[in-house]
Amino acid sequence: MSLLTTTGLEMRYGAIQALRGVDFDISAGELVALVGDNGAGKSTFVKALSGVIQPTGGTIACEGRPVTAHSPATARELGIETVYQDLGLCENLTVAENIYLGREPTRGWGPWRRVDRRRMAAEVAEVLGGLSVNVPSPDAKVARLSGGQRQAVAISRCRLWRRRLVLLDEPTAALGVQESERVVTTIGDLRGDGAAILLISHDIPMVMRLADRIVVLRKGAKAADVRADEVTEHDIVALITGAKEISDEP
Ligand SMILES: Nc1ncnc2c1ncn2[C@@H]1O[C@H](COP(=O)(O)OP(=O)(O)OP(=O)(O)O)[C@@H](O)[C@H]1O
Ligand SMILES: [Mg+2]
Repeated sequence: MSLLTTTGLEMRYGAIQALRGVDFDISAGELVALVGDNGAGKSTFVKALSGVIQPTGGTIACEGRPVTAHSPATARELGIETVYQDLGLCENLTVAENIYLGREPTRGWGPWRRVDRRRMAAEVAEVLGGLSVNVPSPDAKVARLSGGQRQAVAISRCRLWRRRLVLLDEPTAALGVQESERVVTTIGDLRGDGAAILLISHDIPMVMRLADRIVVLRKGAKAADVRADEVTEHDIVALITGAKEISDEP
């Protein structure tokens, strides 16, 4: 069964129609790439799924149940986590603090309640230890990490919290080749946990390499929804620009 489904999702910002009736679904363990030109509506779609914006039309369902009053809090309850390009990491906090960020385990009760630093350190060491990317130390300040290491921290957060659906909005956009490779490896780790992943990227070769399925958005509408092994890079580029249509779309 689909983990998450959208039906006729619409988003209007005043006169701009950013999403025009998008039907979409993703299943557990699936890696779906969402591609499209600048302004096609990709980030808007991710924001709607993560509850950051309220779509102006259509529905979102999780395991068949409609999601009403969607918000970042309900998204979190449903096991949906978003990693944005700018990541939302706090520069002046450590790796461990960023991984928890408001969800620190506590011990004790009432006025004796304290953050359980020992448990935090152990959990973080475990989740970072399970990554193929090297992050210096849970105590390192995020400000000192490279772009790829930061992405690894953000993705570790998803792993630690056992997210069911992770939305990655251009995780490699600002990175060099080697750092991008690290992120690809981290995405693989996440996938190994069985999470569903929605990956937004302009890097078509990377998309072709990683995705099970590719969804193309064009001017807010879904232009294609194809298995990655049934298309070429050239097909995808043509679908993005509108040079090609897929006529056998359901
Ligand atoms: N907060 C907003 N207010 C008004 N218009 C917006 C807002 N956010 C996005 N838009 C518009 O909605 C459309 C889709 O934008 P969106 O950011 O979703 O595109 P995108 O596919 O993520 O593009 P990119 O590849 O450049 O990141 C664009 O026309 C954009 O200008
Ligand atoms: Mg975007």
